[in-house]
Amino acid sequence: MNRRSFVQRLGVGAVGLSVLEFPVSAAAQAVPAAKPAAMPAAAAANRIGSNENPYGPAPSAVEAIARTSLTGNRYPGQWTQTLTNTIAEKFSVPAEYVLLSGGSGDILKAVVYSYASKTKPFVTGLPSYESPTRSAQHVGAPLREVALTSELRMNLPAMATKAIGAGLVYICNPNNPSSTVVPLPELTAFIEKVVKTSPTTRILVDEAYFEYADHPDFGTVVPLVMKYPQLIVARTFSKIHAMAGVRVGYAIAQPKTLETIKEYHSNSGMSVMSLAAANASLLDVENMEKNRAMAREVRRMTVAAFETSGFTVAPCDANFVFVNIKRDSRGFQEACRQKGVQIGRAFPPMTSWARISLGTMEEMEKAIPVFMAVLGAPPVQTASLDHLDRLPNELT
Ligand SMILES: Cc1ncc(COP(=O)(O)O)c(C=O)c1O
Repeated sequence: MNRRSFVQRLGVGAVGLSVLEFPVSAAAQAVPAAKPAAMPAAAAANRIGSNENPYGPAPSAVEAIARTSLTGNRYPGQWTQTLTNTIAEKFSVPAEYVLLSGGSGDILKAVVYSYASKTKPFVTGLPSYESPTRSAQHVGAPLREVALTSELRMNLPAMATKAIGAGLVYICNPNNPSSTVVPLPELTAFIEKVVKTSPTTRILVDEAYFEYADHPDFGTVVPLVMKYPQLIVARTFSKIHAMAGVRVGYAIAQPKTLETIKEYHSNSGMSVMSLAAANASLLDVENMEKNRAMAREVRRMTVAAFETSGFTVAPCDANFVFVNIKRDSRGFQEACRQKGVQIGRAFPPMTSWARISLGTMEEMEKAIPVFMAVLGAPPVQTASLDHLDRLPNELT
């Protein structure tokens, strides 16, 4: 089998041969021809429930996967270093400040295990991303959950008070499920305050949806890591980079802080393919901008559809919207599922709000009539909402 047919059998036949100028092992050449695996039945549903990116990984990332798959006999040390350096350069931090992970979920868990315990409470927003809360419960840490404000943003003043004497504060920004952000000046002031009033408390800022935020005062807290050993920032390739199934995430924090976290982090779960794909995707700014622009258009249309039908949508700065459907969201979720549209789970205590991820425009144009039918709202002509796209800021 030649290199071209091997790669075609990997299902990436579009990869140019220019990327295949490397030696192919005998074992690789002996890979039997395989039919592409059938997609599981669940994939046929309109999947807009897990905040995935519907557009697929960057072509440059797919190409990197194809290329490096043939070096899968080697441990991934070199790619670990390459991706670490690329991230460090992007954020202007030393490479020792970066910890890679097979998804950011493992980072969050390791941070909670490092700093929350039976005697060190865990502070979080309510509702917010639940996985760290579950980890905190697992270690028996007292929970200090702080309700979102009436604008569905993190209540930072209240969280600062709760942070006194706590082991860890978790700030999801943009917040999942509300899709709202806290502006950078407020978050900076919050971090400074917590460091001053409770210096042993750690602060974990989860920027999983960072690239989707359009709020003018939004920004990353990564530069503050240079100043504060208490601060840890988590990022993922699962969202804007469309690599949820590829599994890469990372933390940025001071080396001593990372040493502690590593006690609870396996540092495995990454392959030459995932690392090389992440590296290619991070360098592919053009593709990322394209993803961002497409998500923005879909978000505008989706928000307009709900608002035109009289439903309130939280200000949204992520790849999902949070809608007040004015009824139990579990029933709504199930009714949509039966009609082939899979949306997000319920987020207590806001059980009359539904979290809907942004699919492609085509997927949303199919999903919105389903939502309106289930909600008993008149059908919305999505094409007639086009004019709303041109009005500045009134929709988010
Ligand atoms: C806020 C937030 N953080 C982290 C994660 C985990 O992402 P991953 O483990 O895929 O990197 C998710 C997943 O949806 C999320 O919503």
